[in-house]
Amino acid sequence: MLKSILLKRQKFVLRLLEPTDVEAYVTLFNQLGEETIRCRFGHLIANLTPATAGPFLGDNTPQARAVAVFNEEQDRIAAIGRCYLDPKTKDAEIAIVVAEAMRRLGLGSLLLQELIELATREGSKTVSAYIATKNAPVIKLLQSVGFEIQPVENEDDLKLVLLLPSPSIAIRD
Ligand SMILES: CC(C)(COP(=O)(O)OP(=O)(O)OC[C@H]1O[C@@H](n2cnc3c(N)ncnc32)[C@H](O)[C@@H]1OP(=O)(O)O)[C@@H](O)C(=O)NCCC(=O)NCCS
Repeated sequence: MLKSILLKRQKFVLRLLEPTDVEAYVTLFNQLGEETIRCRFGHLIANLTPATAGPFLGDNTPQARAVAVFNEEQDRIAAIGRCYLDPKTKDAEIAIVVAEAMRRLGLGSLLLQELIELATREGSKTVSAYIATKNAPVIKLLQSVGFEIQPVENEDDLKLVLLLPSPSIAIRD
């Protein structure tokens, strides 16, 4: 997977995140504000170094994919989307973060679309995201593509779920 993207006159490259992207990942992570880290991870996380970033980069297995949007030179990351597939429930849980300086360019929508396609290809039945109730931007983004709100026990959070269409059945004459 490698796609060249032009958004508002800026060139980007979308591809899977690799272990060799560790420097770019650390740079992105350490420039995120506290509020963004809380929105994305649910709690604050200390600064990362290339030595401590391994678990955050992930392994990129079919069950846990990370897709990143890079600048043209592929040395800086503008946004990352993750998709965790549960083979039992066939639910794909997703999470997205866009660098503060790169927002409102369409990168969040782009990654969301990519993650939905990825989950569909892997045979998921639903795509879900756990979001803080006060996180209006992402709730608006998810609802705009058909996600529906499901309350969860903790009133500070919401679960948003998108039902994916069943695979079509080929009919032969
Ligand atoms: C939510 C987030 C991913 C959106 O990324 P983005 O690249 O700015 O989103 P887009 O440019 O694709 O915007 C798509 C739509 O989302 C909605 N949206 C995005 N940011 C918004 C904001 N600050 N206020 C209101 N609506 C917003 C709008 O409907 C927007 O469409 P429009 O620009 O045509 O009005 C980004 O703000 C972010 O990284 N937030 C912190 C991390 C987070 O909350 N992640 C979600 C939990 S996992």
